Formats: sequence, C-alpha cells, structure tokens
Amino acid sequence: MKPYRYVLVGCGGISGAWLKPLAEMPEAVCAGLVDINRDAAERRKQEFGLTDAVTGTHLASMLRKVKPALVFDCTVPEAHIKVARTAFAAGCHVLCEKPLADTMAHAATMLKAAAAADRVHAIIQNRRFDPHARRVQSLLHDGVIGRLHTVYSDFFIGAHFGGFRDRMLHVLLLDMAIHTFDAARLLTGCDPVAVLAHEWNPPGSWYDHHASASAQFEMTNSVVYGYRGSWCSEGLNTTWESAWRFIGDQGSMSWDGRDGVRIQQVSGTEGFIRPLADIEPPPVPAMTWQGHGGVIHDFLESLGSGKQPETVSTDNVKSLAMVHAAIKSAGSGRRVVIPPLA
Ligand SMILES: NC(=O)c1ccc[n+]([C@@H]2O[C@H](COP(=O)([O-])OP(=O)(O)OC[C@H]3O[C@@H](n4cnc5c(N)ncnc54)[C@H](O)[C@@H]3O)[C@@H](O)[C@H]2O)c1
Repeated sequence: MKPYRYVLVGCGGISGAWLKPLAEMPEAVCAGLVDINRDAAERRKQEFGLTDAVTGTHLASMLRKVKPALVFDCTVPEAHIKVARTAFAAGCHVLCEKPLADTMAHAATMLKAAAAADRVHAIIQNRRFDPHARRVQSLLHDGVIGRLHTVYSDFFIGAHFGGFRDRMLHVLLLDMAIHTFDAARLLTGCDPVAVLAHEWNPPGSWYDHHASASAQFEMTNSVVYGYRGSWCSEGLNTTWESAWRFIGDQGSMSWDGRDGVRIQQVSGTEGFIRPLADIEPPPVPAMTWQGHGGVIHDFLESLGSGKQPETVSTDNVKSLAMVHAAIKSAGSGRRVVIPPLA
C-alpha cells in the first residue's frame, strides 16, 4: 500500500513528539512542514532529515501545492479551527493536538466540517495510550473493587513553561485538565452529566491567569468524580498522569499515574472496619505504540480499516465539554449541566 502523504502544521515544541514516532512508521511520509515562523519549519526539516518535505508559512497554499491526504495540526489551540476548516476544504483527514478547540462553538463547527467533508477527524490524547492507564482501566472494568461509585484525581506540578501558557486564560483547565478529564472518562467508562468548579491563581503565581482549579463532576452510572489541580504548586509533584483514588462498593484502588497500583478488597462481613485483603495487580500490559505514537498509529490504522479512531472528535468533544463546563461553572459559581453529546 502507498504511504499516506502528510503536511504537519505548527513546528513548535510538541511537533517533535509527532515527528519522532512518525519516522518509524512507513505508512506515512512527510510532504510538507508549515509554520508562520519559517525558521521553525526549516529547523524541524533539518532535525528529522525530511529532505523531500516542502516548507512554507501558509497552510492553504501548501495544501494546493503538495496535495497531501493528511494534515497533522500542532498549532496553538486558537488556530485549530482555521487549520481544520482549511484542511477539510482541501479534502484532507485531520489529526489535531489537544485541545480539540478553544471553545465549544469552534468544536461544533469543526465536527460539522469533518462530517460534511466525510473526513476522519481525531485528537491527540496521548495519555490514553499508556499501558499503566490501560491496566487500571481493565481492573475497573473487571470489577476488582465492585461497583465503582467515586473517583478522585490530584494533579500538582510546579511547571515553569514560559511561552504561550504564561499568558493563557484558564491555563490549567484548558491546556492540562483536558488530559485528566479525558483519562477519567477512559478509566471509568462514564460520561459527564454536570459540574461545580472553582478556579484561582495563587499568590506568587508565575501565570497571568488561573493556574489552580478544583471541580466535582456528576458522571453517568451515578459516579462522582472530584478533580484537584495546580500548575503553580512547588514541591511534592504528582505524575503528569495524576494520583488517583477509585472507590467501589467492594473496595478501593489507588494509582500514582505510573506503575504504583494498590488494591484492597473487603474480605469479610464483620467488624467496625471490615477485614480487607490486598490484591496484587496484574502485570502492566505490553503496548507497541505508546503516547503520541499510539494515537498516530491508531489514526493511520483507522484510515485503512474504516474503524473509528479511539480519539475521534465526536467522542473527544465529551472530554472538551467537561473542560468548558468547568470553566463556565467557575465563572458563574453555579452547577453547570453538560448536555449529552451523541
Ligand atoms: N499532547 C501533549 O501532551 C501536548 C504537550 C504540549 C503541547 N500540546 C499541544 O500542542 C499544541 C502546540 O503546543 P506547543 O507547546 O508545541 O506550542 P509552541 O508555541 O511551542 O508551538 C506552536 C507552533 O505553532 C505555530 N503556529 C501558531 N499558529 C499557527 C498557524 N495559524 N499556522 C501555522 N503555524 C502556527 C507557532 O509559530 C509555533 O511554532 C497546543 O494545542 C498544545 O496544547 C500537547
């Protein structure tokens, strides 16, 4: 089969996490690199030895020139809507960095444009393609703690990025919590119903806007999910995957975001504190493609097989809805209902 030709747009920090696994995938070849800053595109071309790739500063002209099958969007969130429209108008399938869009209205426009063009549209949610997360997902699915009813996640990292995040509105919820909220959906198999949230910027923050947040979600199956997070918290950092506690009617499980999993199951029916048995978790499953490579590989496979990619935008929009509902709730101080999204 001939490889898919792609144009990658946005040659900043994250584009390296795409080009590295792509260099190992014969199913796709780079036809062009676009960035409003031409030097950024040239640098990536040199760094990855993409000798046949054309570089440019304007996506629409690049698509007319090289006629690729795919557009890979690594631009900043506000640019995703324009990139998607341009790509679908040129008949390309699109894989886009998270978050899908900067607003729910833009997300809806993008979903409509993908459907009208009959093109595949998926989002990089790289933390789904993590064998540690898959282990926790299958333990919960197999009922190791009985019927799951409550979930908490803690995300605390003192991250000094510099760059666009320092000036970004709702920086934690929009740029990072999308990963955690999407993981909550993956791990629990539940979708959001409503949220009550709070955002703030702690004293001494090196961000212009809210770098800390908490949110309590009501999810389907009567699951309650509590989120606490900060990008402006020095010391005792959690993993980027967060520290989780899952509570079911037969026990509890904690996960540190890497290979630390603890499970305790109720093992008797008597006593003020019921007797508990420690359960050994199964080994971490093998996964050939992980992180960005996992999402990109799943996307390429979907094009050949016709099956939907796991991170298809029509599903991923439910994670984005959690973000925007939390932002709305934090702004109004009220509980916000999240209407079901098909
Ligand atoms: N999945 C992850 O773990 C992860 C990690 C970091 C960033 N991201 C996401 O990746 C995206 C980019 O983040 P980054 O850290 O690489 O940012 P960055 O600022 O380092 O790079 C963005 C690049 O896009 C270019 N650009 C902006 N608008 C453009 C446009 N209209 N056309 C062409 N080029 C344009 C900029 O010049 C810049 O080179 C964001 O959506 C961010 O949330 C995801």
